[in-house]
Amino acid sequence: MADGAVGEGSPGADLQVESVTLVAPAVSLRGAVAVPGDKSISHRAVLLGAISDGETVVRGFGRSADTESTVGAVRALGVRVDEEGDDVLRIHGAGLRGLNSPEGPIDCGNAGTLVRLLSGILAGQTWRQFELTGDESLSTRPMGRIADPLQQMGAGVETAGGRLPIGIEGRPLRGIEYELPVASAQVKSCVLLAGLYAEGETTVLEPVATRDHTERMLRAAGARVDGAPGRVTITPPERLALGEVEVPGDVSSAAPLVLAATLLPGSELIVSGVGVNPTRTGFLDVLERMGARVAVFNRRTAAGEPVADLEVTHADLVATEIEPGEVPRLVDELPLWALAAAMARGTSTVRGAEELRAKESDRIATVTEGLRTLGAHITARPDGFRVRGVPARLRGGRMGSAGDHRIAMLAAVAGLASRDGVRIEGADAVSVSFPGFFDLLDSLAQR
Ligand code: S3P
Repeated sequence: MADGAVGEGSPGADLQVESVTLVAPAVSLRGAVAVPGDKSISHRAVLLGAISDGETVVRGFGRSADTESTVGAVRALGVRVDEEGDDVLRIHGAGLRGLNSPEGPIDCGNAGTLVRLLSGILAGQTWRQFELTGDESLSTRPMGRIADPLQQMGAGVETAGGRLPIGIEGRPLRGIEYELPVASAQVKSCVLLAGLYAEGETTVLEPVATRDHTERMLRAAGARVDGAPGRVTITPPERLALGEVEVPGDVSSAAPLVLAATLLPGSELIVSGVGVNPTRTGFLDVLERMGARVAVFNRRTAAGEPVADLEVTHADLVATEIEPGEVPRLVDELPLWALAAAMARGTSTVRGAEELRAKESDRIATVTEGLRTLGAHITARPDGFRVRGVPARLRGGRMGSAGDHRIAMLAAVAGLASRDGVRIEGADAVSVSFPGFFDLLDSLAQR
């Protein structure tokens, strides 16, 4: 870590237990970088590789605490995973029905995507029993949303009052038509994966489109997945064979860099090899609507996913409104969007984003409290935020991550774009999705 972002260590006279990292103000952001492999796609590659026939090679694997949990989980289920380099995995698939019951519970760590997608797969491992646990944050998150459809399909599922631990007994499943009560790609994916094992077709109806990585990867593995807007149907296959997956860079990890380059005058940033699946690029679209200059070029396809390079230069931003139908396309970037809005001209709002309360932290609360202490004019609403923008640097100060990786990254970008810098409590939360984040930021920041 260079001098811009300094780990100040923890215990000492003040008996602090959390590490504090200072992100000093920067003049601009300059350079060309790549970001780690997409977290959503990395989870799916490991899970589908585990139930494929034969070997799956995953390149560009986004190694992070979350995706390590997924590798640990499939290993606990008896699947061999060879690490052939930092971002290359070779998975020796056990086939659709070949997962073993481990001795004890499977620890899903902080990873909501893991617990929800894996549950769909385990529901089809007939007459085998499994228990899934997670860390403190994951243990507070809603699991009734997956227990309900899985029970309707015939699986044995028990939760602790709708939370973890969750116990699953695989049983013969029947296909259902399920309308999502919340716009959630994790729930959609859980039902589709259980549909791999069901008798008959399984259809998920989604009122608002959510990320479609599961559908794309199932197709790449040879399954029949039919889609029309708002509707996706899976026909149970004999077998899956994934072969090779080239994971694109994570657009959610590129997002803090894109925002920092937009906010800081004189910035010129290139992020190469970023996944630009249209179900994930809402943040880029909304920023452009606010006046940002983001060029998307060199478009190509890798493993059924669109990929491109991004070039970002500084721009002044104006306020915008985000409607509920847009929310899933930038759900993980809404904390960053709140910072963009705080530094834009005019008043911005987002509605229909109540799902933010069910993420790694209650992000409506953590974003509002955090940005307010740094000098932003932001008000929480039950389903979003209202932000009165001031086109000037934020004051800065101290901000806690609440153990949430996206909040730690928000605080870091706020630090770069502040007058006095931001001291982040619990900055190490970034390792959940982006372990080298602070070093990368530091290599780009001009001070
Ligand atoms: C994810 C879906 C989203 C997102 C999460 C990853 C996925 O959650 O917030 O970070 O990989 O499917 P929901 O589906 O619960 O909205």
